[in-house]
Amino acid sequence: MRDVMAKAEWVDGKVTAGAQSGQAKFNLQIPENSPAAVSLGNVILTALGRNELFTSASLALRVFPPLFNRYDGGMNFGSHIDNSIRFVKSSLGGGAPIRVRTDMSATLFLTDPADYDGGELVVEDTYGEHRVKLPAGDMILYSATSRHHVTPVTRGSRWSSFFWIQSMVRDEAARLMLFEMDKAIQGLRRQVGDNGEIVALTGLYHNLIRRWADA
Ligand code: NI
Repeated sequence: MRDVMAKAEWVDGKVTAGAQSGQAKFNLQIPENSPAAVSLGNVILTALGRNELFTSASLALRVFPPLFNRYDGGMNFGSHIDNSIRFVKSSLGGGAPIRVRTDMSATLFLTDPADYDGGELVVEDTYGEHRVKLPAGDMILYSATSRHHVTPVTRGSRWSSFFWIQSMVRDEAARLMLFEMDKAIQGLRRQVGDNGEIVALTGLYHNLIRRWADA
């Protein structure tokens, strides 16, 4: 991915920001519909499709086509809130854009943390600040309802992919309970194998999804 990104065209990151977040955003991006972004994005979408943890945590209905950015020396993104609805151009000619409600945000780190200083993703929620800087290839999935910022890069360059997910389960508390329930059921299955009670719990999990999901 880094080889493709090294040869890609880069533009001002403000192109996908709203008026307010644009004032805080100082980075570079690969243009949204460029061949590089589309082909790398598809690699990520394919990987997400076979990732059970992502599926369980997000219960994704739609994933916004991944975008790619970089923060070179001095670049940062001040505290902001992501737009609640984003538009994806329909591939069908003249079709209305597809709307994606941004329930969750994702950042996939693509630079070894030893290769740059600063550039932490800081997510601000009701419990305070969470500072995130992961190995290349690791991704953080967090609530898009939170304010967040990226601290200035003071050495090297930080490359990453970022995008949003619309969940089948809109309510964050319900989505989190389903995630916790799924993890507990999977843990039990590993310990004792399937039995009648575990099948019943699995049934409850799916019936809650039927109750809460818009698919
Ligand atoms: Ni953001």
